[in-house]
Amino acid sequence: MDVDKASVSNTEELKRQILQLKKEKGAVIMAHYYQKGDIQDVADYIGDSLALAQIAANVEEPVIVLCGVHFMGETAKILCPDKTVLIPDADAGCSLADSCDADRFAEFIKDHPGHTVISYVNTTARVKALTDVVVTSGNAREIVESFPADCKIIFGPDRNLGNYINSVTGRNMVLWDGACHVHEKFSVEKIAELKKQYPQARLLVHPECKKPLQLMADKIGSTAVLLKYACESPHTQFIVATESGILHEMRRKCPDKEFIPAPASDSTCGCNDCSYMKLNTLEKLRDCLLTGTPEVVVDEHLAAKARRPIEKMLELSAGIRK
Ligand code: 13P
Ligand code: SF4
Repeated sequence: MDVDKASVSNTEELKRQILQLKKEKGAVIMAHYYQKGDIQDVADYIGDSLALAQIAANVEEPVIVLCGVHFMGETAKILCPDKTVLIPDADAGCSLADSCDADRFAEFIKDHPGHTVISYVNTTARVKALTDVVVTSGNAREIVESFPADCKIIFGPDRNLGNYINSVTGRNMVLWDGACHVHEKFSVEKIAELKKQYPQARLLVHPECKKPLQLMADKIGSTAVLLKYACESPHTQFIVATESGILHEMRRKCPDKEFIPAPASDSTCGCNDCSYMKLNTLEKLRDCLLTGTPEVVVDEHLAAKARRPIEKMLELSAGIRK
């Protein structure tokens, strides 16, 4: 397809080009709920981290374009080594994945002999390769509970998710001290004020948020869990304490309900936007289909080691929805 890039400033024309290129290249477009709304609108599949991994493991198209952050593309590539996996912006990283350096994590494991290693999907392939089973926020509780109660467990890297899972399972997992810069910034004080202003509103909280906010929540869960809860709830107003991209699908699915983004401590910073997720744009998505770059590449031996704990996660969460 010939594309005159300079002449295209129009969103509808970009979307048309993306859909045409997608057909020509035999590509499938997958997007996380934190992506900009216009990217979610052109995607074949949108979902939380668990759904994206489950879908990637089963798609037939030879090219996967993963609109999300790097670890999501890496997970898709590890699961589908023979496919081409593209991401619109190679700099779309994750502060949580960055908070867990693989060499330091290996030392941490050495310091805790006899422990099973459970890692959140928000990690690099090198950390996954050191892991017994990967989890997402959508299946962490079930997977932790699938191990005997006396099993000694290391959980990394998110301390807030780890503390939450310890509290709901009664386990005492040893936690890596990592966190996400977006979820830690929500302001308990401002959200308490908002609850006074909207007394009927339910508070939806992602488990990467800090404990004081979790204690105020009406529902804690992954993006997909919060979305499902909002759709099925008889309530009509929700304060949403997770990255702002999820509001697009909440509003699309429940046009008669009101979704209020939770404020962060510094209201001038737009902190409930993940700066990495928001690096992806329609232009970059079009260009990556056009040029076949940036491509996600994972060393074959590393991928073989990292695949085992991801496949174990998929086996253990077979009963959990896509
Ligand atoms: P979910 O798996 O809940 O979609 O979360 C992914 C993520 O990056 C949270 O910050
Ligand atoms: Fe990573 Fe946080 Fe962005 Fe999720 S919101 S991708 S955990 S930096």
